[in-house]
Amino acid sequence: MSKEKLIRKFDKQSNIYEMRRKKQSERRWRSTLLGSAKGKVLEIAVGAGANFNFYPKDVEVTAVDFSSEMLSKAKVSAAESGIRATFMQSDIESLSFPENSFDTIVSTLSFCGYDNPVQVLESLNSFCKPGGQILLMEHGLSSNRWINRTQKLIEPMFNRLVGCHLDRDIMDILAKSKVSIHRVERYLYNTIHLVWASPNKNSILD
Ligand SMILES: C[S@@+](CC[C@H](N)C(=O)[O-])C[C@H]1O[C@@H](n2cnc3c(N)ncnc32)[C@H](O)[C@@H]1O
Repeated sequence: MSKEKLIRKFDKQSNIYEMRRKKQSERRWRSTLLGSAKGKVLEIAVGAGANFNFYPKDVEVTAVDFSSEMLSKAKVSAAESGIRATFMQSDIESLSFPENSFDTIVSTLSFCGYDNPVQVLESLNSFCKPGGQILLMEHGLSSNRWINRTQKLIEPMFNRLVGCHLDRDIMDILAKSKVSIHRVERYLYNTIHLVWASPNKNSILD
């Protein structure tokens, strides 16, 4: 699917994401993950700003998404949550920041959308400061055989409708990247992964 078509698809879904944000969907997971965010934060694929309410109040967030409709809702969310944030409209897959720019990098429910999620993780590895943290909440293939089969079966239709891949193997994507993983929690038959990771600067020289 072309990027233009994908952006239109997400623009159209922005009201749904705003409703989910107001209902505080995934509240328990988001608060567990984001409580440790600190300093200069990069949030990729911010959507309608579902995470702002869960950040410590003293962070400074740079929030990126390619959907202008999502971004306008995310701005409202940041203001309501009292979080200092700046917003950028950009494709995450061609995002560019100087190396070591951020203390914390956050992605929630975004790795299902990229053509090359390993490459995106490598960029995050570069943008994150040494000793910084990469916090992820991602959905992917279940370890349960029946759910896994169903996910693979409905994946093409789901992708056409929603623009998101249901069959991402999150642990495999992490294993192929250079980031160092410190802690993983899994939920809902291992379809949801909460990941605490950090950049691995040495391996950039590999
Ligand atoms: C499933 S939503 C998740 C939104 C939010 N992170 C959350 O947790 O609710 C995916 C978001 O990623 C954005 N997105 C997907 N692919 C993208 C890309 N290549 N560049 C920028 N944004 C992208 C979409 O516009 C959408 O806002």
